[in-house]
Amino acid sequence: MNELLTIKEASEWASSYIGKNVTPSNISYLIQYGRIRKIGKNGTTQISQVELANYYTKFLTSREDYFKDKLGEDLNWALSFEQYKEAETTKHVHRLHPYKGKFIPQLVEYFLDNHKDKFKTETYFNAGDIVLDPFSGSGTTMIQACELGIHAIGIDVSAFNSFIGNSKVAKYDIEDLKNEINRITKILENFVRNSNTIEFDKKLLQELNLFNTQHFPVPEYKYNMRKGEIDGKQYGEKKEKEFLPIYEKLVKLYNINLKQDNNETFLDKWYSQHIRNEIDFAFEEIKKIRNIATKNIVSLILSRTIRSCRATTHADLATLLEPVTTTYYCSKHGKICKPLFSIVKWWKTYSKDTVTRLQVFDKLRTDTFQFCITGDSRTIDIFKETKRNNADFSSLLEKQKIKGIFSSPPYVGLIDYHEQHA
Ligand SMILES: C[S@@+](CC[C@H](N)C(=O)[O-])C[C@H]1O[C@@H](n2cnc3c(N)ncnc32)[C@H](O)[C@@H]1O
Repeated sequence: MNELLTIKEASEWASSYIGKNVTPSNISYLIQYGRIRKIGKNGTTQISQVELANYYTKFLTSREDYFKDKLGEDLNWALSFEQYKEAETTKHVHRLHPYKGKFIPQLVEYFLDNHKDKFKTETYFNAGDIVLDPFSGSGTTMIQACELGIHAIGIDVSAFNSFIGNSKVAKYDIEDLKNEINRITKILENFVRNSNTIEFDKKLLQELNLFNTQHFPVPEYKYNMRKGEIDGKQYGEKKEKEFLPIYEKLVKLYNINLKQDNNETFLDKWYSQHIRNEIDFAFEEIKKIRNIATKNIVSLILSRTIRSCRATTHADLATLLEPVTTTYYCSKHGKICKPLFSIVKWWKTYSKDTVTRLQVFDKLRTDTFQFCITGDSRTIDIFKETKRNNADFSSLLEKQKIKGIFSSPPYVGLIDYHEQHA
């Protein structure tokens, strides 16, 4: 059994061992992230079958058994959705903007679609019904309802959340959207070309590459850390200090403004002056868009971009304590990382990603009504608000009762929604 396997052999072996498709890139990922050791032999990468078996055995000692043991045999394991990859739980428009506290679309599908199983012995909704989600959040219920041919009303107290949900479910003129994106990208790139950040960033990356290759070799560093041979935190902090003078020298040389003069608003505090200038520039251009639907979705792209450019570390799960304006030891990537100095890369990535996701969803959508109202679901007049916003949906509501509610209420005390959406 103590054989050495190539990546391809390992993927084949693991696929038959766990009865699920394990691709060569899954195996490379395990090596890259130090889960299993790379053994180099004659220039090809090999890994130990014993180590691979140990890894997958741990993985297989089933979470299902573990939870059934804790919670009882009648646990509906189908609701763990553990077979889904992240790309599936964030499929198409569900990934158009980050939102903390989403439920996954598969969960909504399970309850909204009309299949039955051992646990779900009756169906709750059918195509043509109306579902209400009084805590709509980022609109997951509305999107899945649209896929299933069900009408949906969402309510959320936060205008921004309704905006996310309504933007996900809206229909777009994709050509107009592409044109506006291209227009803004071009002038944004021109705007940035005149700034000293490009050269600075290039130089900084070169220095970081040299430093990281020397002090955080891939994948040995992560593997040794996992094995407990290196104390990542202590070592990382030491190296972080070592790199800092190189960073500071470049900041001075290129005259980089790490902070803004004002410190009042979120945008003042969490962005370098350079990023702020780009955000303001892009925003002014978005204001010129005439097609309202296009303008909304481009605003959402900018918002997603802005969120990714906050002066914080890669490992920060949006706790946002103090802005990080220097290079730092990144526990997520196991090396020294840097803050961002321009929004262009994320703007372009998200622009392209958004168009693709809208196109995918457009093929799945049905001709039904979905709309999220902004307001307090305890007191809102759903009929009045729907009438104000969507006359056709309103006339349907006059004839047809809401069939049921499907929702996930706010996680009180766990997520500070105001801070999240600052
Ligand atoms: C757990 S989240 C819902 C997430 C949603 N299921 C999704 O997939 O995105 C709860 C939502 O309830 C909203 N909320 C809290 N109190 C509310 C109220 N009184 N009326 C309407 N919405 C409210 C919050 O703004 C938050 O977006």
